[in-house]
Amino acid sequence: MRRTVIAGNWKMNMTPAETKKFIGELAPMVAGLDKCDIVLCVPAIDIPAAVEAASGTNIRIGAENVHFKESGAYTGEISAKMLVEAGVEYVVIGHSERRQYFGETDKTVNLRTKAALAAGLKTIVCVGESLEERELGYTETLLKYQTKMALTGVTAEQLKNVVVAYEPVWAIGTGVTATAEQADEGNGFVRAAIAEAYGAEAAEEVTVQYGGSMNDGNAAELLSKVNVDGGLIGGASLKTDKFTAIVKAANA
Ligand code: PGA
Repeated sequence: MRRTVIAGNWKMNMTPAETKKFIGELAPMVAGLDKCDIVLCVPAIDIPAAVEAASGTNIRIGAENVHFKESGAYTGEISAKMLVEAGVEYVVIGHSERRQYFGETDKTVNLRTKAALAAGLKTIVCVGESLEERELGYTETLLKYQTKMALTGVTAEQLKNVVVAYEPVWAIGTGVTATAEQADEGNGFVRAAIAEAYGAEAAEEVTVQYGGSMNDGNAAELLSKVNVDGGLIGGASLKTDKFTAIVKAANA
């Protein structure tokens, strides 16, 4: 049975003080809801506050990016080793905002994924098509390509620490959610790509999340789909009540 993972992606929101307050409020609300992993991926500056506030709770802390080199002249970057030492367990890689605004490519997504896995982090690798790509009929081709590119050189053993998030770019932050059928189909394409690379049995074990305007109103339906093993949640992860409702939907 694959594990359901409900992960918040805070993006560039929350200060360290706000982080401490948020997790202090959230922890009792999600206590005991252990049928899924609960993760908050936070800005790097918030990591120490988040790790401290989440200590002793069932909330795990993730980062929003990681560099692929171990150390060196990469001003502004953060290595996997630094994240691990800070108490981070998960890292989001290849989010569409990184691809769109910060020059992230399938190649750098792959390098970051390998570096994170080598350091023992769990990765949340993001893939997803634009509206144009969907309308041209390239969704399956693109999702399979992005998934395989991201995982090139990742061993079958390392695959156990891989979560893939299917996030249609047109659904992120737009309020337009994919239908549960579209989410299930997209996640299915991701799983099929993993099956082509690692075999059907291994693919069955990989957690594939849906992301893109998931909220307290639509989570239950999205999560009811066989290929939707959790969510990567932006906007709704910034509100303790909404995020808790999604975690509850995953525990129902
Ligand atoms: P959203 O963001 O939930 O605000 O659409 C999802 C994401 O970017 O991971």
